[in-house]
Amino acid sequence: MSIDASRPEIAIAGRHLAKKFGHVQALSDASITVPSGKVVALFGDNGAGKSTLLKLLLGIHQKDAGELIVADEPVELRSVRDAQELGVDCVYQDLALAPDLSVVDNMFLGHELTRAGALGWAGFVDRAEMQERTDEALRRLSIKLPSLTVAVQELSGGQQQALAVARAVMWSKTAVLMDEPTAALGARQSEIVCDLMRTIAASGLGVLVVSHDLPRVLKVADTVTILWRGRTALEAPAEDLTVPDVVATMVGYGVGEAA
Ligand SMILES: Nc1ncnc2c1ncn2[C@@H]1O[C@H](COP(=O)(O)OP(=O)(O)OP(=O)(O)O)[C@@H](O)[C@H]1O
Ligand SMILES: [Mg+2]
Repeated sequence: MSIDASRPEIAIAGRHLAKKFGHVQALSDASITVPSGKVVALFGDNGAGKSTLLKLLLGIHQKDAGELIVADEPVELRSVRDAQELGVDCVYQDLALAPDLSVVDNMFLGHELTRAGALGWAGFVDRAEMQERTDEALRRLSIKLPSLTVAVQELSGGQQQALAVARAVMWSKTAVLMDEPTAALGARQSEIVCDLMRTIAASGLGVLVVSHDLPRVLKVADTVTILWRGRTALEAPAEDLTVPDVVATMVGYGVGEAA
């Protein structure tokens, strides 16, 4: 897989974003830039606003202030559908897989209606095509599952995570956003998911990953953005940072708290 020269420079970005929930100022001045073909890690303490930032970039919540950019263009995202139509998809913190449905059904979950025209005549979903596209998407990422027709609850945690990643990639043209993709995984499975991030970026998509797994994600990231109490405290190349540097900024050293 090689990066297409026609790819946008910026896959997705947010500038000076603010978002308030009732009395809670979840974000006050958050900025992040995810270039095409790069992995950007978003770090921050619990409650720093990482998931909220992702949700603004996905059209799940609407920003109070700031600017969103997708594929080099300023955009307004009023719904998840808006983001999906621009080729932005995500792996949610809770996976959002349907445990009793098959691998194939999960790959199309949430997309079968919006893309019904492309999948079959008058909303008729072609099972054979669904299976073929699932097989192709998993093969592209070198993900091996015991069967495509097995219920997802019969897969291991790592296999489910890989499936959630493959689903996001299958529907993304521009960027894949991941919230804590390795949170429930053991060491080996986490490595596999981190390798997937590099594979996805190498295909030309922008990858944004929120994680508390600093050592592992720092190794695969190109750049790091650190949120501290709703604002961007640091954006820097990953190679310039150590885990203690990241932790210090996450807890506010040099940002305001302990400076
Ligand atoms: N839907 C919501 N309604 C009210 N408050 C919210 C909502 N979503 C987030 N918040 C608040 O906004 C702040 C930021 O939350 P957010 O989930 O973005 O943090 P986070 O950085 O993802 O934390 P974690 O590492 O624990 O996942 C928190 O104070 C949280 O309680
Ligand atoms: Mg979160």
